[in-house]
Amino acid sequence: MTAPFAEATLGPDQTSPGRTKVFVKSYGCQMNVYDATRMTDLLAAQGYSEAAREEEADLVVLNTCHIREKATEKVYSELGKLASLKQERGASGRDFRIVVAGCVAQAEGVEVLRRQRAVDLVVGPQSYQRLPELLTRTTRGERLTDTDFAVEDKFLALRRTAAERRGVGAFVTVQEGCDKFCSFCVVPYTRGAEVSRPVEQIVEETEALAEAGVREITVIGQNVNAYLGADAAGGEWSLARLLERLARVPGVTRLRYTTSHPVDMAQDLIDAHGALPQLMPFVHLPVQSGSNRVLKAMNRRHDADAYLDLVARLRAARPDIALSSDFIVGFPGETDEDFEATLDLIRKVGFASTFSFKYSARPGTPAAERDDQIDEDVKSERLAALQELVEAQRRDFNVATVGRTVDVLFEKPGRHDGQIAGKSPYMQAVHATGGLELIGAVAPVTIVAAGSNSLAGKLAGGAFREAPL
Ligand code: 5AD
Ligand code: SF4
Repeated sequence: MTAPFAEATLGPDQTSPGRTKVFVKSYGCQMNVYDATRMTDLLAAQGYSEAAREEEADLVVLNTCHIREKATEKVYSELGKLASLKQERGASGRDFRIVVAGCVAQAEGVEVLRRQRAVDLVVGPQSYQRLPELLTRTTRGERLTDTDFAVEDKFLALRRTAAERRGVGAFVTVQEGCDKFCSFCVVPYTRGAEVSRPVEQIVEETEALAEAGVREITVIGQNVNAYLGADAAGGEWSLARLLERLARVPGVTRLRYTTSHPVDMAQDLIDAHGALPQLMPFVHLPVQSGSNRVLKAMNRRHDADAYLDLVARLRAARPDIALSSDFIVGFPGETDEDFEATLDLIRKVGFASTFSFKYSARPGTPAAERDDQIDEDVKSERLAALQELVEAQRRDFNVATVGRTVDVLFEKPGRHDGQIAGKSPYMQAVHATGGLELIGAVAPVTIVAAGSNSLAGKLAGGAFREAPL
């Protein structure tokens, strides 16, 4: 439902968006990054141009994240700053509108309007296609929320219109929502049930991106490997089949997918890693904990051995595959022993990169109701210990590439003159000396040094000047 917060009457559209500049600021996951570009495109079609900074904008959209308390609080502090900006603009008679989109919008709805008077519109992730209409209403002084789980096809309405601006790599949403209900997580409540996008739409979008020069497609979804999409003939496609189809789109040299759930890691997807050269040998496969007791309490639906078995099967299909994961420390009831089991799993797998978080109780989730919450000090200690271990693994992984020659997809100029930057198959940032004409190309690079955040290499066979890190 579109719920007006304050009484207002609808009149004819008096907006003149041609001169209006929009700034969309995104927090959180890749899904939000994708949605932010879609919103920018949608508004561009309405005549809005893109502002480089909030201060230059007439309309600011905060595309928010609700996954942890810290992320939510960041939104309210940002809104405080925007409210001052709005006041300054108002004093000089200029319009300035503030929109809150994303998962905080979905979860808190009208509460956002109550907590911050300067906000004009609160719009949830399933309602972005209605942004133009909603914005028109705000220009007439209405304050609105729209957090409906829309019936119309959001994907279709938000079709990509400005692919040419997107560079060498691009995200393509293929699936949204989550049916897993991990006991700590708000996503099933903010993003709704799992919905897969039809095959033809994805292929069409990928073809348009490739034609516009995109070379690396990352297909994304909250539970991307649960993808089960329909084709026009009524067939059902798994993620593996979809990737195999996208690999045949001319111009697509690399494919990635994220984020996956261990229980949806089907054998055909594992096999695709051995069969599809375009599919990069890197998988983000969150495990959250290595303790069976905690995994059960988290409602993760698998144990530590099942995860280790998946890792072994992925490595059998593609021996050089690199793994990445998410971890939560201090889940309610987590003992020292449970935490040790997590460290043990990390030692057994050896991760190339990781994200780790202190458990954050989220309103409305089952784990938040538990009375065995863990002390913040204990969480901090555990997080520090875990991060020390995974950081050492990341360093080891990077150092192990020194001396090897790896394919690098060059994406942009490097930080220094004469340098270009790109990514290895394993998601490592690589700098090398080379000309800008290589941007968009994949070239073999011999890695000569590993820095803390990137690798330095030389083009194999090319003239060599060591690239500064
Ligand atoms: N507290 C801490 N971390 C969380 N995540 C999700 N919910 C919470 C929470 N309540 C983490 C998980 C997930 C990642 C995107 O965020 O590790 O994989
Ligand atoms: Fe959240 Fe679990 Fe769904 Fe991931 S799988 S989005 S952690 S509920």
